[in-house]
Amino acid sequence: EYDIDKNLRSPICVVLGHVDTGKTLILDKIRKTRVQEGEAGGITQQIGATYFPIKSLQKLTNKVNKKHRYKHKLPGLLVIDTPGHETFTNLRSRGSNLCDVAILVVDIMHGIEPQTRESIDLLKKRKTPFVVALNKIDRLYDWNVTENMGFRDTFKNQKKHVQMEFQNRLNETILHFNQLGMNAELYFKNKSIKDTVSLVPTSAVTGEGIPDLLMYVVQLTQKYMIKKLTYLSTFQCTILEVKVIEGHGTTVDVILVNGKIHEGDRIITCGLNGPIDTTIRALLTPQPLKELRVKSEFIRHPVLHAAVGFKISAVGLENSIPGSEVFICGQRDDPEELKERAMKD
Ligand code: GTP
Ligand code: MG
Ligand code: NA
Repeated sequence: EYDIDKNLRSPICVVLGHVDTGKTLILDKIRKTRVQEGEAGGITQQIGATYFPIKSLQKLTNKVNKKHRYKHKLPGLLVIDTPGHETFTNLRSRGSNLCDVAILVVDIMHGIEPQTRESIDLLKKRKTPFVVALNKIDRLYDWNVTENMGFRDTFKNQKKHVQMEFQNRLNETILHFNQLGMNAELYFKNKSIKDTVSLVPTSAVTGEGIPDLLMYVVQLTQKYMIKKLTYLSTFQCTILEVKVIEGHGTTVDVILVNGKIHEGDRIITCGLNGPIDTTIRALLTPQPLKELRVKSEFIRHPVLHAAVGFKISAVGLENSIPGSEVFICGQRDDPEELKERAMKD
C-alpha cells in the first residue's frame, strides 16, 4: 500500500555503531548484495549510500505489515553506511550530520561498546531520532532460524532456554543504556518513544527481525518528520569521495540532502587550490538497491531529487575536498559570493 506525497523528499537514515556489529551485513541482507565480503579485512573505510525506492521498502516490510497495512507515503529511503572502526570518527560525524534518522547497531553478545557511545553522543548532539538494531540474535546458543521472519514470530518458535538467554542479554543491554542515563525497551513494548530507546532484535545472517527494523524506520520518519521532509527551496549537497571512474574521468560521490540538481548546472565547491567553478557533465547513480561505493553500471539522469547519493562528473573536480558543500550557481546568484562561502567550510 502506498500513496506517495509529492511534496516530500526521501529521508536519510544513517547506520552507525561499533566496529563489526554488522552494519554493512544488515544492508547486504536487505539489498541481496555482498559488499561486506569485498571490504579489505571486513572493515568499512568509507561512507556508503544506497537508495531504497518505495516499492522495495513495501516488499521488505510486508511480513510485519500485513495486519496494519501501514501506508507508505515517502518516495523512498536513502541509507548511509558508516565505518565503526575507531579511526573513522570524522566519517561517522559526517554521516550523522547528513541524516534525518539513524539505526544504531549493537551486537547482542557485547552490548554497548566505545563507538556505540561515541555514536550516541553524535546523535544526541543533533537530536536525531534513532532505533537500535540489537544484532546477531542468531548467535544465541540453539537459535532456531526461520529466514527473514519478523522478530515476534521467530521468537515464539524458540526453546525456553533460548528465550531466557535472549532475555538476559537484552536486560544487560538495557542496563548499559540506563547507565548512560537512557531508558531502553523492546520496540513493541515501548510506550514512550520520545524518551525511551527502541530495540529491534535482528540477524544480518538470517534476516530475522529485519522487516521489523525497516518498518520501524519508515514509521519513525512518516510519523514524526513530515515537516522536516517537506521540500524546501534550500539546496544541500555534500561531497563524500573523489574518484576516477573509467569513461567518466574524475568524479565526486555526493549526497544530495535537499533540493534538486540538473545535468548542465554550474556548481561551485571548495578545492585544494582555491574554489572550483565547473559545469555538471553527468549525474550518475548506481542501480536502486546498489551501493554507491561499489563499481557497477551507472545510470545517467537529467535531474535528481533529494535525498539521493550519486556521482557528479565534471571537469576540474580532481582537487575537490571530501566533506565540502556543493553550491549551485544559478543565473541570479553571485559566483564570487558562492566561492567565498565554498572556501569558508
Ligand atoms: P565496520 O563497518 O567495519 O564497522 O563493521 P560492520 O558493523 O559493518 O560489521 P560487518 O557487516 O562487517 O560484520 C562484521 C562481522 O560480523 C562479519 O564477520 C559478519 O559476518 C558478522 N555478522 C554481522 N552480522 C551478523 C549477524 O547478525 N549474525 C552473525 N552470526 N554474524 C554477523
Ligand atoms: Mg561495515
Ligand atoms: Na566490519
